[in-house]
Amino acid sequence: MASMQYYDRFGLLLNNQVVKTPIAIASMAGIVDAAYVLPRAAHIGAAFLGGYSIDEPTMEASRKMSEIGRREFTYEDPVEELSSQVALLSKTDVVTGLNLRGSSPEAFSAIAAQIGDAAVYEIDAHCRQEPMIAAGCGEVLLHHPNRLREYIQALKGEDVCVSVKIRAGVSPDDLRLARAIWKAGADILHIDLMDTGYQKVRQIRNTCPLVIIANNSINTFERMKEMYSHGADLVSLARHSDDRTLAGLDAAISRYADEQGWYNSPKQLCRGGDIRALTFCCMPVKSCPLIPTLDRIGMEKEEYLSLKQEAVKGTPLESGPQTCFGSLAWCCKSSSPCMFREMTILQQGLTNREYMQQKHQLSEKIMQYIFEEKPQDDTC
Ligand SMILES: Cc1cc2nc3c(=O)[nH]c(=O)nc-3n(C[C@H](O)[C@H](O)[C@H](O)COP(=O)(O)O)c2cc1C
Ligand code: SF4
Ligand code: SF4
Repeated sequence: MASMQYYDRFGLLLNNQVVKTPIAIASMAGIVDAAYVLPRAAHIGAAFLGGYSIDEPTMEASRKMSEIGRREFTYEDPVEELSSQVALLSKTDVVTGLNLRGSSPEAFSAIAAQIGDAAVYEIDAHCRQEPMIAAGCGEVLLHHPNRLREYIQALKGEDVCVSVKIRAGVSPDDLRLARAIWKAGADILHIDLMDTGYQKVRQIRNTCPLVIIANNSINTFERMKEMYSHGADLVSLARHSDDRTLAGLDAAISRYADEQGWYNSPKQLCRGGDIRALTFCCMPVKSCPLIPTLDRIGMEKEEYLSLKQEAVKGTPLESGPQTCFGSLAWCCKSSSPCMFREMTILQQGLTNREYMQQKHQLSEKIMQYIFEEKPQDDTC
Protein backbone atom coordinates (compact mmCIF):
# COMPACT_ATOMS: atom_id res chain seq x y z
CA MET A 1 0.00 0.00 0.00
CA ALA A 2 1.18 3.54 -0.74
CA SER A 3 1.80 5.91 2.15
CA MET A 4 -1.22 8.09 1.21
CA GLN A 5 -3.47 5.05 1.66
CA TYR A 6 -2.04 4.51 5.13
CA TYR A 7 -2.65 8.18 5.82
CA ASP A 8 -6.28 7.78 4.72
CA ARG A 9 -6.63 4.80 7.04
CA PHE A 10 -5.10 6.18 10.24
CA GLY A 11 -4.44 9.88 9.58
CA LEU A 12 -1.26 9.63 11.63
CA LEU A 13 2.05 11.45 11.13
CA LEU A 14 5.17 11.26 13.29
CA ASN A 15 8.26 13.30 12.50
CA ASN A 16 6.48 14.37 9.27
CA GLN A 17 6.29 10.74 8.13
CA VAL A 18 3.13 8.75 7.55
CA VAL A 19 2.71 6.05 10.21
CA LYS A 20 1.49 2.92 8.46
CA THR A 21 0.04 1.30 11.57
CA PRO A 22 -0.37 2.76 15.09
CA ILE A 23 1.86 0.11 16.68
CA ALA A 24 5.43 0.73 17.83
CA ILE A 25 8.25 -1.34 19.25
CA ALA A 26 9.38 0.12 22.59
CA SER A 27 13.05 0.14 23.49
CA MET A 28 14.83 -2.58 25.43
CA ALA A 29 18.46 -1.76 26.18
CA GLY A 30 20.90 -4.24 24.68
CA ILE A 31 18.09 -5.82 22.61
CA VAL A 32 16.14 -3.41 20.38
CA ASP A 33 18.39 -2.20 17.57
CA ALA A 34 17.93 -2.05 13.79
CA ALA A 35 18.70 -5.77 13.46
CA TYR A 36 15.85 -6.49 15.92
CA VAL A 37 13.42 -4.20 14.10
CA LEU A 38 14.08 -5.16 10.45
CA PRO A 39 12.43 -8.63 10.57
CA ARG A 40 9.40 -7.05 12.31
CA ALA A 41 9.14 -3.98 10.04
CA ALA A 42 6.08 -5.17 8.08
CA HIS A 43 3.78 -4.93 11.10
CA ILE A 44 4.91 -1.78 12.89
CA GLY A 45 4.64 1.94 12.23
CA ALA A 46 7.46 3.08 14.52
CA ALA A 47 10.35 1.70 16.54
CA PHE A 48 12.25 3.20 19.44
CA LEU A 49 15.78 1.79 19.36
CA GLY A 50 17.92 1.67 22.46
CA GLY A 51 18.23 2.85 25.16
CA TYR A 52 21.53 4.33 24.11
CA SER A 53 23.85 6.22 26.41
CA ILE A 54 25.19 9.31 24.70
CA ASP A 55 27.84 10.86 26.92
CA GLU A 56 30.68 9.81 29.21
CA PRO A 57 28.70 9.66 32.52
CA THR A 58 25.86 7.60 31.02
CA MET A 59 28.23 5.37 28.98
CA GLU A 60 30.08 4.68 32.22
CA ALA A 61 26.71 3.85 33.87
CA SER A 62 26.00 1.41 31.00
CA ARG A 63 29.38 -0.26 31.54
CA LYS A 64 28.63 -0.65 35.27
CA MET A 65 25.21 -2.09 34.47
CA SER A 66 26.63 -4.62 32.02
CA GLU A 67 29.21 -5.64 34.62
CA ILE A 68 26.36 -6.63 36.94
CA GLY A 69 24.74 -8.67 34.16
CA ARG A 70 22.21 -6.29 32.55
CA ARG A 71 22.07 -6.19 28.80
CA GLU A 72 23.26 -2.82 27.49
CA PHE A 73 24.49 -1.43 24.18
CA THR A 74 28.14 -0.44 24.57
CA TYR A 75 30.40 1.30 22.03
CA GLU A 76 33.21 3.83 21.89
CA ASP A 77 31.50 6.43 19.71
CA PRO A 78 27.76 7.04 20.17
CA VAL A 79 27.43 9.21 17.04
CA GLU A 80 28.95 6.52 14.85
CA GLU A 81 26.78 3.80 16.42
CA LEU A 82 23.50 5.75 16.27
CA SER A 83 24.11 7.03 12.74
CA SER A 84 24.64 3.51 11.48
CA GLN A 85 21.49 2.27 13.28
CA VAL A 86 19.40 5.08 11.75
CA ALA A 87 20.89 4.39 8.31
CA LEU A 88 19.93 0.70 8.55
CA LEU A 89 16.26 1.65 9.00
CA SER A 90 16.24 4.52 6.53
CA LYS A 91 15.10 2.34 3.63
CA THR A 92 12.09 1.00 5.52
CA ASP A 93 8.74 2.73 6.08
CA VAL A 94 9.17 2.51 9.87
CA VAL A 95 9.43 5.82 11.75
CA THR A 96 12.71 5.54 13.65
CA GLY A 97 13.05 6.72 17.25
CA LEU A 98 16.17 6.69 19.43
CA ASN A 99 15.70 6.21 23.16
CA LEU A 100 18.53 8.20 24.77
CA ARG A 101 20.19 8.56 28.14
CA GLY A 102 22.25 11.72 28.58
CA SER A 103 23.41 13.69 31.59
CA SER A 104 23.23 17.27 30.28
CA PRO A 105 21.22 19.33 27.80
CA GLU A 106 24.37 19.69 25.68
CA ALA A 107 24.69 15.92 25.34
CA PHE A 108 21.23 15.78 23.74
CA SER A 109 21.69 18.78 21.47
CA ALA A 110 25.11 17.53 20.31
CA ILE A 111 23.68 14.14 19.28
CA ALA A 112 20.74 15.71 17.44
CA ALA A 113 23.02 18.22 15.69
CA GLN A 114 25.13 15.38 14.33
CA ILE A 115 22.46 12.83 13.47
CA GLY A 116 19.82 15.23 12.17
CA ASP A 117 16.08 15.05 11.82
CA ALA A 118 15.77 11.55 10.37
CA ALA A 119 14.96 10.19 13.84
CA VAL A 120 12.63 10.97 16.71
CA TYR A 121 14.69 11.70 19.83
CA GLU A 122 13.20 10.04 22.88
CA ILE A 123 14.43 11.14 26.30
CA ASP A 124 14.60 8.13 28.60
CA ALA A 125 12.92 9.38 31.79
CA HIS A 126 12.00 5.78 32.57
CA CYS A 127 15.13 3.85 33.57
CA ARG A 128 15.27 3.12 37.31
CA GLN A 129 18.74 1.55 37.45
CA GLU A 130 20.85 3.22 40.12
CA PRO A 131 23.94 3.98 37.92
CA MET A 132 21.73 5.77 35.35
CA ILE A 133 19.93 7.74 38.03
CA ALA A 134 23.28 8.75 39.54
CA ALA A 135 24.34 9.95 36.05
CA GLY A 136 21.36 12.35 35.98
CA CYS A 137 18.92 10.64 33.65
CA GLY A 138 16.14 8.08 33.66
CA GLU A 139 13.51 8.18 36.36
CA VAL A 140 15.28 11.00 38.25
CA LEU A 141 13.93 13.38 35.59
CA LEU A 142 10.39 12.65 36.75
CA HIS A 143 11.31 14.20 40.10
CA HIS A 144 13.22 17.09 38.47
CA PRO A 145 10.92 18.43 35.76
CA ASN A 146 13.09 21.52 35.31
CA ARG A 147 15.99 19.36 34.21
CA LEU A 148 13.68 17.41 31.92
CA ARG A 149 12.48 20.68 30.44
CA GLU A 150 16.08 21.70 29.70
CA TYR A 151 16.70 18.41 27.87
CA ILE A 152 13.53 18.85 25.80
CA GLN A 153 14.39 22.44 24.95
CA ALA A 154 17.96 21.48 24.01
CA LEU A 155 16.59 18.97 21.49
CA LYS A 156 13.92 21.35 20.20
CA GLY A 157 16.70 23.90 19.66
CA GLU A 158 17.97 21.48 16.99
CA ASP A 159 14.51 21.43 15.39
CA VAL A 160 13.93 17.70 15.80
CA CYS A 161 10.89 15.68 16.86
CA VAL A 162 10.99 14.91 20.59
CA SER A 163 9.40 12.14 22.61
CA VAL A 164 9.60 11.67 26.38
CA LYS A 165 9.32 8.17 27.81
CA ILE A 166 7.87 8.20 31.31
CA ARG A 167 6.65 5.67 33.81
CA ALA A 168 3.23 6.50 35.26
CA GLY A 169 2.88 6.78 39.02
CA VAL A 170 6.47 7.90 39.71
CA SER A 171 5.99 11.65 39.52
CA PRO A 172 3.91 13.10 42.38
CA ASP A 173 1.54 14.45 39.70
CA ASP A 174 1.53 12.78 36.26
CA LEU A 175 -0.93 15.28 34.81
CA ARG A 176 1.11 18.29 35.84
CA LEU A 177 4.17 16.53 34.43
CA ALA A 178 2.41 15.80 31.10
CA ARG A 179 1.41 19.42 30.81
CA ALA A 180 4.94 20.60 31.62
CA ILE A 181 6.34 18.25 28.94
CA TRP A 182 3.90 19.67 26.42
CA LYS A 183 4.66 23.27 27.40
CA ALA A 184 8.42 22.59 27.10
CA GLY A 185 7.84 21.79 23.43
CA ALA A 186 7.87 17.99 23.22
CA ASP A 187 5.83 16.30 20.50
CA ILE A 188 5.20 12.82 21.90
CA LEU A 189 4.51 11.37 25.34
CA HIS A 190 5.38 7.68 25.57
CA ILE A 191 3.85 6.31 28.78
CA ASP A 192 4.66 3.06 30.51
CA LEU A 193 1.32 2.82 32.29
CA MET A 194 2.48 0.19 34.80
CA ASP A 195 -0.80 -0.85 36.48
CA THR A 196 -2.62 2.48 36.06
CA GLY A 197 -4.54 1.34 32.97
CA TYR A 198 -6.64 3.28 30.48
CA GLN A 199 -7.88 5.74 33.14
CA LYS A 200 -4.42 7.33 33.11
CA VAL A 201 -4.52 7.58 29.31
CA ARG A 202 -7.86 9.38 29.49
CA GLN A 203 -6.63 11.81 32.15
CA ILE A 204 -3.53 12.65 30.13
CA ARG A 205 -5.58 12.98 26.91
CA ASN A 206 -7.75 15.51 28.75
CA THR A 207 -4.65 17.44 29.84
CA CYS A 208 -2.52 17.94 26.72
CA PRO A 209 -2.60 17.58 22.93
CA LEU A 210 0.64 15.58 22.67
CA VAL A 211 0.77 12.41 20.57
CA ILE A 212 0.25 9.68 23.18
CA ILE A 213 1.91 6.27 22.95
CA ALA A 214 0.46 3.86 25.52
CA ASN A 215 2.73 1.09 26.75
CA ASN A 216 2.81 -1.88 29.12
CA SER A 217 1.37 -5.31 28.46
CA ILE A 218 -0.69 -4.18 25.47
CA ASN A 219 -0.57 -7.54 23.80
CA THR A 220 -4.20 -8.16 22.77
CA PHE A 221 -6.67 -6.36 20.50
CA GLU A 222 -9.04 -5.72 23.43
CA ARG A 223 -6.34 -4.02 25.48
CA MET A 224 -5.07 -2.07 22.48
CA LYS A 225 -8.59 -0.86 21.66
CA GLU A 226 -9.16 0.16 25.27
CA MET A 227 -6.09 2.44 24.98
CA TYR A 228 -7.21 3.92 21.66
CA SER A 229 -10.76 4.59 22.83
CA HIS A 230 -9.43 6.55 25.83
CA GLY A 231 -7.03 8.75 23.91
CA ALA A 232 -3.91 6.87 22.80
CA ASP A 233 -2.64 7.55 19.27
CA LEU A 234 -0.30 4.56 19.22
CA VAL A 235 0.45 1.60 21.43
CA SER A 236 3.92 0.14 21.92
CA LEU A 237 5.23 -3.28 22.84
CA ALA A 238 8.58 -4.28 24.26
CA ARG A 239 8.66 -7.76 25.84
CA HIS A 240 5.95 -9.14 23.54
CA SER A 241 7.23 -7.54 20.35
CA ASP A 242 7.36 -10.87 18.54
CA ASP A 243 6.34 -11.09 14.91
CA ARG A 244 3.17 -13.08 15.62
CA THR A 245 1.77 -10.65 18.22
CA LEU A 246 2.63 -7.59 16.11
CA ALA A 247 1.10 -9.11 12.95
CA GLY A 248 -2.13 -10.00 14.81
CA LEU A 249 -2.52 -6.50 16.28
CA ASP A 250 -1.70 -4.83 12.95
CA ALA A 251 -4.24 -6.93 11.03
CA ALA A 252 -6.95 -6.35 13.64
CA ILE A 253 -6.56 -2.56 13.88
CA SER A 254 -6.26 -2.17 10.09
CA ARG A 255 -9.51 -4.09 9.59
CA TYR A 256 -11.21 -2.08 12.34
CA ALA A 257 -10.05 1.24 10.83
CA ASP A 258 -11.27 0.25 7.36
CA GLU A 259 -14.68 -0.74 8.71
CA GLN A 260 -15.22 2.03 11.26
CA GLY A 261 -13.38 5.00 9.74
CA TRP A 262 -11.80 6.25 13.00
CA TYR A 263 -9.45 3.73 14.60
CA ASN A 264 -9.11 5.53 17.95
CA SER A 265 -12.57 7.03 18.29
CA PRO A 266 -13.44 7.83 21.91
CA LYS A 267 -16.32 6.32 23.83
CA GLN A 268 -19.25 8.72 24.27
CA LEU A 269 -18.62 11.13 27.14
CA CYS A 270 -21.38 9.58 29.26
CA ARG A 271 -19.75 6.17 28.81
CA GLY A 272 -16.40 7.34 30.14
CA GLY A 273 -14.93 8.87 26.98
CA ASP A 274 -12.19 11.50 26.95
CA ILE A 275 -12.80 15.09 25.79
CA ARG A 276 -12.45 14.19 22.11
CA ALA A 277 -15.96 12.76 22.71
CA LEU A 278 -17.38 16.30 22.66
CA THR A 279 -17.63 15.61 18.93
CA PHE A 280 -20.50 13.18 19.74
CA CYS A 281 -22.20 15.30 22.39
CA CYS A 282 -25.66 16.83 22.09
CA MET A 283 -26.63 20.41 22.79
CA PRO A 284 -26.28 21.15 26.52
CA VAL A 285 -29.97 20.78 27.36
CA LYS A 286 -30.06 18.07 30.01
CA SER A 287 -28.33 17.07 33.17
CA CYS A 288 -25.54 14.76 31.98
CA PRO A 289 -21.70 14.57 32.07
CA LEU A 290 -21.43 17.26 29.36
CA ILE A 291 -22.13 20.13 31.78
CA PRO A 292 -19.46 19.25 34.38
CA THR A 293 -17.00 18.54 31.55
CA LEU A 294 -17.55 22.01 30.07
CA ASP A 295 -17.15 23.48 33.56
CA ARG A 296 -13.87 21.59 34.06
CA ILE A 297 -12.35 22.88 30.83
CA GLY A 298 -13.70 26.37 31.49
CA MET A 299 -15.99 26.49 28.47
CA GLU A 300 -19.28 28.37 28.52
CA LYS A 301 -22.31 26.63 27.01
CA GLU A 302 -22.56 29.35 24.35
CA GLU A 303 -18.89 28.93 23.51
CA TYR A 304 -19.39 25.17 23.07
CA LEU A 305 -22.44 25.72 20.86
CA SER A 306 -20.75 28.19 18.56
CA LEU A 307 -17.51 26.16 18.46
CA LYS A 308 -19.32 23.13 17.04
CA GLN A 309 -21.62 25.16 14.80
CA GLU A 310 -18.66 27.01 13.27
CA ALA A 311 -16.56 23.87 12.94
CA VAL A 312 -19.14 21.96 10.87
CA LYS A 313 -19.95 24.85 8.52
CA GLY A 314 -19.63 23.69 4.93
CA THR A 315 -19.09 20.05 5.94
CA PRO A 316 -21.50 17.09 5.57
CA LEU A 317 -22.20 17.33 9.33
CA GLU A 318 -23.79 20.77 9.03
CA SER A 319 -27.30 19.76 8.15
CA GLY A 320 -29.62 17.05 9.50
CA PRO A 321 -33.16 18.40 9.80
CA GLN A 322 -34.55 15.05 10.96
CA THR A 323 -32.09 14.69 13.84
CA CYS A 324 -32.78 15.71 17.45
CA PHE A 325 -30.96 19.06 17.20
CA GLY A 326 -31.25 19.80 13.48
CA SER A 327 -27.62 19.00 12.61
CA LEU A 328 -25.35 15.94 12.58
CA ALA A 329 -22.91 18.05 14.60
CA TRP A 330 -24.84 16.97 17.72
CA CYS A 331 -25.29 13.32 16.76
CA CYS A 332 -23.98 10.26 18.56
CA LYS A 333 -21.34 7.71 17.63
CA SER A 334 -22.19 5.32 14.79
CA SER A 335 -22.17 2.42 17.29
CA SER A 336 -25.26 3.90 19.07
CA PRO A 337 -28.20 2.76 16.90
CA CYS A 338 -30.45 5.62 15.70
CA MET A 339 -32.70 5.49 12.65
CA PHE A 340 -32.92 9.30 12.34
CA ARG A 341 -29.16 9.68 12.10
CA GLU A 342 -28.83 6.71 9.78
CA MET A 343 -31.54 8.06 7.48
CA THR A 344 -29.84 11.48 7.40
CA ILE A 345 -26.43 9.96 6.68
CA LEU A 346 -27.96 7.97 3.83
CA GLN A 347 -29.65 11.05 2.39
CA GLN A 348 -26.34 12.90 2.49
CA GLY A 349 -24.77 10.07 0.44
CA LEU A 350 -22.38 9.25 3.32
CA THR A 351 -21.40 5.85 4.66
CA ASN A 352 -21.11 5.29 8.42
CA ARG A 353 -17.36 5.13 7.89
CA GLU A 354 -17.35 8.57 6.26
CA TYR A 355 -19.62 9.90 9.02
CA MET A 356 -17.05 8.79 11.59
CA GLN A 357 -14.23 10.34 9.56
CA GLN A 358 -16.14 13.63 9.62
CA LYS A 359 -16.62 13.29 13.39
CA HIS A 360 -12.86 12.67 13.68
CA GLN A 361 -12.15 15.94 11.86
CA LEU A 362 -14.64 17.75 14.08
CA SER A 363 -12.93 16.36 17.20
CA GLU A 364 -9.56 17.62 15.91
CA LYS A 365 -10.98 21.12 15.51
CA ILE A 366 -12.41 20.92 19.07
CA MET A 367 -9.05 19.78 20.49
CA GLN A 368 -7.21 22.47 18.53
CA TYR A 369 -9.53 25.07 20.02
CA ILE A 370 -9.25 23.78 23.60
CA PHE A 371 -5.46 23.44 23.65
CA GLU A 372 -4.16 25.91 21.07
CA GLU A 373 -6.69 28.72 20.70
CA LYS A 374 -8.61 29.04 23.95
CA PRO A 375 -6.78 31.08 26.63
CA GLN A 376 -5.17 28.62 29.06
CA ASP A 377 -4.69 28.67 32.79
CA ASP A 378 -0.90 28.25 32.81
CA THR A 379 -0.35 27.76 36.49
CA CYS A 380 1.82 24.67 36.07
C1 LIG B 1 15.02 -5.80 29.11
C2 LIG B 1 14.33 -4.49 29.05
C3 LIG B 1 15.06 -3.33 28.79
C4 LIG B 1 14.43 -2.08 28.74
N1 LIG B 1 15.17 -0.98 28.42
C5 LIG B 1 14.55 0.23 28.31
C6 LIG B 1 15.28 1.39 27.94
O1 LIG B 1 16.49 1.35 27.71
N2 LIG B 1 14.63 2.57 27.84
C7 LIG B 1 13.27 2.67 28.10
O2 LIG B 1 12.70 3.76 27.99
N3 LIG B 1 12.56 1.59 28.44
C8 LIG B 1 13.15 0.37 28.54
N4 LIG B 1 12.41 -0.74 28.89
C9 LIG B 1 10.96 -0.60 29.15
C10 LIG B 1 10.13 -1.01 27.95
O3 LIG B 1 10.34 -0.15 26.83
C11 LIG B 1 8.63 -1.01 28.31
O4 LIG B 1 8.29 0.27 28.76
C12 LIG B 1 8.25 -2.03 29.39
O5 LIG B 1 8.90 -3.26 29.15
C13 LIG B 1 6.73 -2.28 29.44
O6 LIG B 1 6.23 -2.61 28.15
P1 LIG B 1 5.92 -4.13 27.69
O7 LIG B 1 4.89 -4.67 28.62
O8 LIG B 1 5.41 -4.03 26.29
O9 LIG B 1 7.20 -4.89 27.79
C14 LIG B 1 13.04 -2.00 28.96
C15 LIG B 1 12.31 -3.15 29.25
C16 LIG B 1 12.94 -4.38 29.29
C17 LIG B 1 12.12 -5.61 29.57
S1 SF4 C 1 -24.41 15.47 25.79
FE1 SF4 C 1 -25.29 13.52 25.11
S2 SF4 C 1 -23.50 12.26 24.51
FE2 SF4 C 1 -22.73 14.00 25.72
S3 SF4 C 1 -22.61 13.22 27.81
FE3 SF4 C 1 -24.63 14.19 27.61
S4 SF4 C 1 -26.00 12.55 27.01
FE4 SF4 C 1 -23.91 11.80 26.67
S1 SF4 D 1 -30.83 11.92 16.03
FE1 SF4 D 1 -30.12 10.04 16.93
S2 SF4 D 1 -27.89 10.15 16.80
FE2 SF4 D 1 -28.69 12.24 16.49
S3 SF4 D 1 -28.66 13.15 18.56
FE3 SF4 D 1 -30.73 12.25 18.23
S4 SF4 D 1 -30.53 10.20 19.12
FE4 SF4 D 1 -28.43 10.93 18.81
